[in-house]
This record gives sequence, C-alpha cells and structure tokens, in this order.
Amino acid sequence: MSIAHLQPFPESLRESIRMVQRTRDQRLDRRRMGEGIEQLSLSDRRALLREFHPDHREEGFGILSVGPSKGSSVPLEILSLLEARPRPVVKRLLDETAEHPLAVDMTTDVLVIGGGGAGVAAAIVAAEAGARVLMASKLRLGDSNTVMAEGGMQVADHECDSPAQHFLDVMGGGHFSSDPDLVEALVSEGPTVLRWLEELGMLFDKYPTGRMKVRHGGGTSRKRLHAAGDVTGLEMMRVLKDRLECLKGVTVLPFAPAVELLTDDNGRAAGAVLEQLPSGRPLVVTAKAVILATGGMGRLHLSGFPTSNHHGATADGLVLAYRAGVPLRDLRSSQYHPTGVAFPEKLAGLLLTEKFRGLGAQLLNRHGDEFVFSLEPRDVTSAAIIRECSEFGNGVNIPGGGVGVWLDIPMIDLIHGRGTIEKEFPGRFKEYLRMGLDIRQVPLLAYPTLHYQNGGVVIWPNGGTDMPGLFAAGEVTGGVHGRNRLMGNALLEILVFGRRAGISAATFAAGVKEPTEPGLGHLEAFLEQLEAVGKQSGGTAPRLLPAYGRVTPI
Ligand code: FUM
Repeated sequence: MSIAHLQPFPESLRESIRMVQRTRDQRLDRRRMGEGIEQLSLSDRRALLREFHPDHREEGFGILSVGPSKGSSVPLEILSLLEARPRPVVKRLLDETAEHPLAVDMTTDVLVIGGGGAGVAAAIVAAEAGARVLMASKLRLGDSNTVMAEGGMQVADHECDSPAQHFLDVMGGGHFSSDPDLVEALVSEGPTVLRWLEELGMLFDKYPTGRMKVRHGGGTSRKRLHAAGDVTGLEMMRVLKDRLECLKGVTVLPFAPAVELLTDDNGRAAGAVLEQLPSGRPLVVTAKAVILATGGMGRLHLSGFPTSNHHGATADGLVLAYRAGVPLRDLRSSQYHPTGVAFPEKLAGLLLTEKFRGLGAQLLNRHGDEFVFSLEPRDVTSAAIIRECSEFGNGVNIPGGGVGVWLDIPMIDLIHGRGTIEKEFPGRFKEYLRMGLDIRQVPLLAYPTLHYQNGGVVIWPNGGTDMPGLFAAGEVTGGVHGRNRLMGNALLEILVFGRRAGISAATFAAGVKEPTEPGLGHLEAFLEQLEAVGKQSGGTAPRLLPAYGRVTPI
C-alpha cells in the first residue's frame, strides 16, 4: 500500500493498518480452505449478548408508569417522551376545545403520516383502491431511513430457497420473539413485492442473463439479499415516488409533521393535528382512516450512541399511538448495526453496509486478527465488537477519542476480482474517494451504531391496530422482527405492511362515515393518568427533530 493511501489516517493508526495488511494473505488462505472463524453456539451467543449488548445495560431503561403498556421496560430516552407533555401548539388547541369544537382545516379519506417507504407504499395502494389520500411528511417526501438503506432486501425467490426457510431465519434471528403471523405475511409476500418493484421500474443487480444477483446477510441460511448496488433504498424510493406522483387523489404536505392524533366519540382514529414547519402553525386534518408510518428513533441516540438514521427519526409515532391508547411492544430491544463509521469523525455513526461483509470483508482487531465470524446476526456481531474493544482492549484507539475495529474491505477485490468494490459499492466508493480514502486499498474503522427500532406499535397482519381506523406500518411497529432484525428485512417489511395498511385503510374508509366531533379526548384522559401518578416528564413530545437539527423549507 502506498503512503498516499495512508495519508488520510493519522500516524497513530498507520501501524495498525500495516498489521491488517500483513495478516491478509494468511486470512485469504484460511478462507479458501474454509478455516475461518466459526459461528458461535446458541449458548455462547446468549452469554455474549447478556454481557455486552447495550440492551442489557439496566441503567439505560425505565418502567412505563401509565398507558396500555404500563409496567414495560423501555429506554429512558423513549420513556421521557412517552410521559411528556404535548407540544405547545396542541396544548393551545386543547385549551380552545374546552370552549368550542375543533376548527377543521382539511378532510380526507385516508391520512398517511410519514413520507418514507412504508408511508409512500401505503399511499399508493390506498389511492389505487380509490381513496382520497393526504400524506403528511415531517420533512420532504422521501426523507427517511428508507433512502439511506444500502445493502438490500431479503426475498426468497431462488430455487434453493423458500418463504418457509426465510420464516425460520427471521424467527431464529429474532430469538423466537417475533409474532409468527406477521412473519408469515412478511416472507410469503416477498416475491409479490419484488415483482411489484420491478414493474415500477426498480433496477436490481442482475447477471447478464437477467437472473437476479442474491447475497448473504448476517444470520441467514440462504443467499436472498436483492440489491441495487449500495443504494438500494434510494433506488426503491425513486420508483415509489414516481408512482405516487402519477396518481390522482393524492395530496402531499411536506414539512407538516403530525403532533397529535384526533379521535372521535367512539374511540375511532379521526385524523391528526399537523404542525407546519417552521411557522409552528397548526393544521387540523380529519380522516376516516389514519396510517402511522413515522419510522424509528435513532436520533434519540440511546445511551449516547451515534446513529445511522436520518434526522427525522425521533420516535414521534410511538408518542402519538401511545397517548391514544395503542399498546407498544419489544421497545426494550434496539438494533445496533455492527459497522457504523468510527473514523473519519465527521461521518461517525453512518453506515458501512453489511453487504461489505456479505462479500467477504472481515472484522479485525488492532493486531489485524479476526475475532468474530463476520456474518453472525447483528446483535451478536455488535456485542463481539464491544467486547473486543472493552473487555479485551483490542480495539483501535482513534485520535480525539473513540475506539473501533477494522473492516477489511480490500479483501472483496482479492476474493471476487478487481473492480468488484467499485461495481458493487458505487455510492460508498465515490463518497470515500472524495475524502482521499480508496476503499479498494485501505480498511475502514467501524463501531456499532444505533440503527433500528426493533419494537413499536402492536399491529395485526392486515396493518390494523387496537384502535379502529388506525393502521401502522414500517419501523414504527413491533412484532415482525422480535428482539433482533436481520439485514434486508426492513425494506421488505415497509412494502409488505405498507401495502397491507394501505388497502386495509382504504377499505375501512369506504365503509364508514366522516368522524363525528373529532377531538383530543384521548389526550385529556392520558394527561390525567400522568398527573395521577405524578410522573409527567419535564419536556414536550413529539420531539420532531434532534436538538441539533434544523429545518429550512425550500
Ligand atoms: O447494512 C445494511 O446495508 C443495512 C441493511 C438493513 O438494515 O437492512
């Protein structure tokens, strides 16, 4: 490796990179002979998780004192939002409605809250079924974790695979805590969703024969990851947005996050209060059916972890649903992706896709030694990295603070031939080259990053929730992945359950009248419960953006 390739790394890291280089031939030989590090046994995995996974740090959790999931343990950062006061704009409406009925600004059949992949898929299907759809997006249409998804989508469509095999992988990966009916829906609809995306024009990686390329993800027994380079989510959102924009009867409101649900006298979902950004003015929307597709919570930075998530991932949907009386599940469990960027610091927490490891990149400690089978389920790999750096002291110390392990990306070209990295990872290859880092030549430093909200709103297989008229899809929901999601199942989930929620909501809306006297009665009741236990946290929720976030409408 030339000195030019090492230039972006401070001197203190260069010796460790040389060690990575020194062990490479030997590691390649071992790989060819099938002598690499073996997968851990189930009991070793469990012990590792108990000791080193952040889900097991008791001091990071608290108990919900009110609401339908009262008594559940959730991360402190989520707890403080679930027990917070409403935002000022909602408080003002609450005071006004003591005197007179809520003034309604807009009405629709189906209100979709959230402009990411699940929301857009739901909106498409609902509009195709004839519903008038209003989509409220916190930022611009498409700003979401979906567009940041890199590595691919799992679908069992090859002859050596089957939805049944996929089912077993999901159940096992999630420590057998997933809802089997949701998992069945997920895996069995995969091939339909794949065809749908192709019909919409999505460009998947294929061989010259037209056969889809499939790769391994961590914890999967078959190669079933379908990708578009390393920009799979971006490509997916391109075709979803194209389709949405072609449809009649859809109105998109950007910069209009929902800050409270509306309910009617019968306890049915009846719309939402939106807060227009940046003015803060309310927009009251009534709807016959509401779909919650607000995404996850990475920007809450649980226990101070960096995150791979977009700026809008602040758990808003959990707050809206919980105050309205809808139960939550599995929030005790969060996903830490093993390979968030650890250096350069300005990219800290962003993703180094699992596809790198799927194609042979190895995880190495500061001596250049492999310490974990690279394609364990994500929670296991993350715990192994944390142990290597903390317990064993074998991490690479990063000048200015922090620690990491090497992700030896150049292995990929050595295994699959020159040009593979450029072809398979066009996004990351160019991004790093701009910073002077040639990932064909140098390894990168990685450390676990907060990546995904495993749990969330309890849903049924049709996308419905315990509240009539309220549907939910995507990362805001729980039950599909149990306590650990496998790579590539999020992109599948947003489409399977986005479409299901869309059709269910449109059907529901077609069968009911306009809500009568929509209001904030559920919120009043929830605030009374909080007051009764004297537990209301100091802040307001939903948070909408992290403290360092800014919104500049265009
Ligand atoms: O590593 C990745 O590309 C992430 C994929 C996922 O979370 O599904």
